[in-house]
Amino acid sequence: MQKINDWEWIDIEETGSTNDAVRELTSEEGGHKYVVTAKKQTAGRGRRGRSWIGVEGNLFMSYAAEVETKDWGQAVFIVSLSLLETIRTLFPTINIRLKWPNDVLVAGRKISGILLEKGNGNYLIMGIGVNIKNAPQLNNSSYQSVSLSELGYETDRISFFEKYTEILDANFCRWKNYGFDIIKERWLADAQGLGREITVRTEKEEKKGSFEGIDENGLLLLKTENKIEKICAGDVFFSKE
Ligand code: BTN
Repeated sequence: MQKINDWEWIDIEETGSTNDAVRELTSEEGGHKYVVTAKKQTAGRGRRGRSWIGVEGNLFMSYAAEVETKDWGQAVFIVSLSLLETIRTLFPTINIRLKWPNDVLVAGRKISGILLEKGNGNYLIMGIGVNIKNAPQLNNSSYQSVSLSELGYETDRISFFEKYTEILDANFCRWKNYGFDIIKERWLADAQGLGREITVRTEKEEKKGSFEGIDENGLLLLKTENKIEKICAGDVFFSKE
């Protein structure tokens, strides 16, 4: 095992899902932080039962850290904000936005995916895929995908991973020291569609309203008629799409 900051890190050639590989390292006792990266992923999972294609050249990484379950709703915003900050640090002029709950859009298209799962004990697994070289077509998704490479932004999976780990650590530190407000403010500053009409498609229904922000648990605040509704899961569509 290698070390990157205070994470125990394994880089593997090929695995089914890095989320499963890192889960195997977690235990009830805790006391460590782990991250697994893979060159190739053969059974990558996405949100809501979707799959995530694992072609070589892209980045597949899963971090496992002890986070209290009540804080998981906040943690996802740290993960996505850190992705935006990494991409912007590497490519300052890039057109990048955040989409609730955990997407990062470059030029209006999906550049990455985040899947949070439970590990053993108190571990939270944060699985992240980043389209560095290729943009596999997403199944069952109304979103087009894009890669950094096809837009002329060149990096490699390990350079990206190293910068990301540094930024993720800094944001976890901010969160621990100052709470969620600072993360929320930074996330909202780059959120797509804030204050605009959106449609939220949940498993059961579709709702239209104005996107008013997120609450202290990361739930989406949707203003419909004269009330604010809190949405905990769903896909967001903006009016021009
Ligand atoms: C999504 O947008 O649907 C989430 C995709 C998450 C993909 C990543 S790739 C690394 C980690 N391992 C997986 O099996 N899934 C996540």
